[in-house]
Amino acid sequence: MPRISVSHLMKMKSEHQKITCITAYDASFATIFDQAGIQVLLIGDSLGMVLQGHDSTLPVTVDDIKYHTTCVASCAKSALIMADLPFMSYANAEQAYANSAILMRAGAQMVKLEGGEWVANTIQGLVERGVPVCGHLGLTPQSVNVLGGYKVQGRQQAQADKLLSDALLLEKSGIQLLVLECVPVALAERITNALQVPVIGIGAGAQTDGQILVMHDAFGISAGFCPKFSKNFLLETGDIRGAVALYKKQVESSEFPASEHCFY
Ligand code: KIV
Repeated sequence: MPRISVSHLMKMKSEHQKITCITAYDASFATIFDQAGIQVLLIGDSLGMVLQGHDSTLPVTVDDIKYHTTCVASCAKSALIMADLPFMSYANAEQAYANSAILMRAGAQMVKLEGGEWVANTIQGLVERGVPVCGHLGLTPQSVNVLGGYKVQGRQQAQADKLLSDALLLEKSGIQLLVLECVPVALAERITNALQVPVIGIGAGAQTDGQILVMHDAFGISAGFCPKFSKNFLLETGDIRGAVALYKKQVESSEFPASEHCFY
């Protein structure tokens, strides 16, 4: 099977087929997810929390993402491999170019970065230089200290309007995918309908074009707690492969996320 491409994801959006994504950090899980037909594997900077035990993603380095991208890319043959640019690795365009080159050489086919208007020029420069980019809006964990915690974003009208205009600007700048995290369902639907490119939600309701979860949350094994927007798919299946298949099936049928996983 040929590798999933950005045009494949665009076609899925146009045909109203839901896109299933999950984080992956190692060869074994990457193989399971790839064989299950998951479309996008994200080497997320969430690894700082679920693998390294930090209380935020801020300590994660480009070398960390590079290492885990190499592990995932060695096995995942069908899924599109997306690597996170970690905190302060794209503070200016030159840094973003150099660090994206490292991650693309490690096996990524797309990089993801957080932020709105301030990253627009950087995105345009990356795309012009051959690097596909996924934007990330809403709750952007690298800005946890500015946001004052891991909070739902876009509940006030002005904030919601700003998120929509940022999403449109990022699309104009060249993103080919957008992750939207922890926003009210109605806002996620508004943004999904306004954009041509697929919008992948996490804590953003079932109206987005697809879903992404941190794999440890999907298996209920995150140290501490399971976020409201996630679900332990192992509970019903008792088996990793079964849990992945159930996650994909429930995303495709819009059974997941259900109302108890959403913000309003
Ligand atoms: O780092 C990560 O895992 C992410 C997802 C939560 C989307 O950015």
